[in-house]
Amino acid sequence: MEFQLNGRPFVFDGEDDTPLLWVIRDAAGLTGTKYGCGIGACGACTVHIEGVATRTCVLPVSAVAGKRITTIEALSTARSHPIQQAWIANDVPQCGYCQSGMVMAAAALLDKHPHPTDAQIDEAMTNLCRCATYHRIREAIHDAAKR
Ligand code: FES
Ligand code: FES
Repeated sequence: MEFQLNGRPFVFDGEDDTPLLWVIRDAAGLTGTKYGCGIGACGACTVHIEGVATRTCVLPVSAVAGKRITTIEALSTARSHPIQQAWIANDVPQCGYCQSGMVMAAAALLDKHPHPTDAQIDEAMTNLCRCATYHRIREAIHDAAKR
């Protein structure tokens, strides 16, 4: 099974129903994408598939054959994406565990709505954060929109 992973062809030789998260983490060795709940609820495992923020813990690898996948490792070079810059400027993370998923969800939101309203942020950002960084996330998304 072949797909594009961070701009390069990637071949996975394994079971079709392997969750994409484990292909990314174990087969490709990209550990920025996290395992949180394993049931599609928390968003820690979010990557972009064809530019759309998608949770990968419940997605079989067979669903992404031929598709273009971007993980946190390739969102930008040197953390230059406006979301990453705003995250740093606003000191968003606490423990950090949920944050790569948050960043990928927020980056996809800005692609769709370059100046999102609070309602659009609420609708798009359904990821969970045990450290409750939600307020700083909202501020950082507005900050990134200005950048
Ligand atoms: S680990 Fe995938 S949504 Fe929680
Ligand atoms: S920063 Fe700790 S879970 Fe979100």
